[in-house]
Amino acid sequence: MSDQNSKTSKTSAIWGGRFAQGPSAVMEEINASVGFDARLFAQDIQGSIAHCTMLQAQGIISQEDGNAILEGLEKIATEIEAGDFQFSRALEDIHMNIEARLAELIGDAAGRLHTARSRNDQVATDLKLWIRDAIDATDEGLKALQEVLIKRAEEHAGTILPGFTHLQAAQPVTLGHHLLAYVEMLGRDRSRLSDARARLNECPLGSAALAGTSFPIDRDHTANALGFDRPTANSLDAVSDRDFALEFLSTLSIAAVHLSRMAEEVVIWTSEPFGFMRLSDDFSTGSSIMPQKRNPDAAELVRAKSGRVFGNLLGLLATMKGLPLAYGKDMQEDKEPVFDAADTMELCLAAMGGMFGSATFDTERMQNAAGQGFTTATDLADWLVKELGMAFRNAHHVTGELVKLAEEKGVGLEDLSIDDMKSVEASITDAVFDVLGVENSVTSRVSFGGTAPDNVKAQCKSARKRFL
Ligand code: ARG
Repeated sequence: MSDQNSKTSKTSAIWGGRFAQGPSAVMEEINASVGFDARLFAQDIQGSIAHCTMLQAQGIISQEDGNAILEGLEKIATEIEAGDFQFSRALEDIHMNIEARLAELIGDAAGRLHTARSRNDQVATDLKLWIRDAIDATDEGLKALQEVLIKRAEEHAGTILPGFTHLQAAQPVTLGHHLLAYVEMLGRDRSRLSDARARLNECPLGSAALAGTSFPIDRDHTANALGFDRPTANSLDAVSDRDFALEFLSTLSIAAVHLSRMAEEVVIWTSEPFGFMRLSDDFSTGSSIMPQKRNPDAAELVRAKSGRVFGNLLGLLATMKGLPLAYGKDMQEDKEPVFDAADTMELCLAAMGGMFGSATFDTERMQNAAGQGFTTATDLADWLVKELGMAFRNAHHVTGELVKLAEEKGVGLEDLSIDDMKSVEASITDAVFDVLGVENSVTSRVSFGGTAPDNVKAQCKSARKRFL
């Protein structure tokens, strides 16, 4: 800020009419938001242009004043973009900074822009426009990550690894199938963003301070000009609603849960005992003391930053929960959590895309691990049901005994001899060995949504159509 230590005795040129003295330094500091809401400058100018054009069209201000305002606003946009704009904390926020500069540039006509408008409907409009863009950018980020994952899934449609429940080896699955699970999660995040966008897309501008206005404004005009579907229906609600910010944050929070779970798997898979995945050099970090280390810092940070996104949601929920209608200055605290969550997610999405796009998978190690821990026991039980007509519960019991036997002998199920098998269940035949390998196991799982390599190939195609 240009004037951190500004004299505070001067009353505000914009709202200071009834005050004999200006705010104390502390008052100015707690009240000012321009330090962060300057980020809304483009939306603020866009909103003002729409408002001004409407005021002209309705004959509420003259063409001449309107044109001067429009020219001034364009100039201010250029100044801010070029870094040539002097922001002033004494002017509180981005709205008043722009209005004050407009007055410097065009004189008295500037004062007509705020006709039939308040900062309350103005800021609600600005933030909606900002979040609408952020929704679109986040959607792009999610889509880009989906694309990386689908590509890797195509490469690894037939790569076998252990699937886990309780983080205990459960059944063999294919890596492509595992990666497509993430693609589905991210797809739901995108669909939630699109729902939130549709609900957000009503224009608050023209609700004025809280009660609407007596000027003959055309709210459809401004709504249209700003790409909203319609004007908001209730002025009290419009200036005090921050659901759109909460929905954005809650959607990002769920997406952050997904990224955090993926990140956790990266941490596990790249750990020495697992060794399923190796991050590329440009997504690994070293240790200052242990030369052998390749640390998955980016994954750990994605996992950690999810907490920060949830914190932003919880903070704003708490800010909003006790507010009576309509606007309260509490609501000025809505912006920082929104900006921080959007920035955090953008970075995390890029980091996940970078990690998954450049990692290599140790397919041999994965396949070996997939055969450990009797992971084809379910296949054996299913075979007993299908071939010997056993009830699944009996088959489960018989298989359990076979697992016990294999465990005692220190071998895998497929290494038991047919005589061993028959000692537990006399009617078992040689054909059972066809279902015991991990490859047999995964190729047999052709039910819709199952892990078979052919399914994965088909699902990759479908995912491309549905998401990219
Ligand atoms: N900087 C304020 C905010 O972000 C703008 C609205 C101020 N309105 C008011 N009545 N003081 O919420």
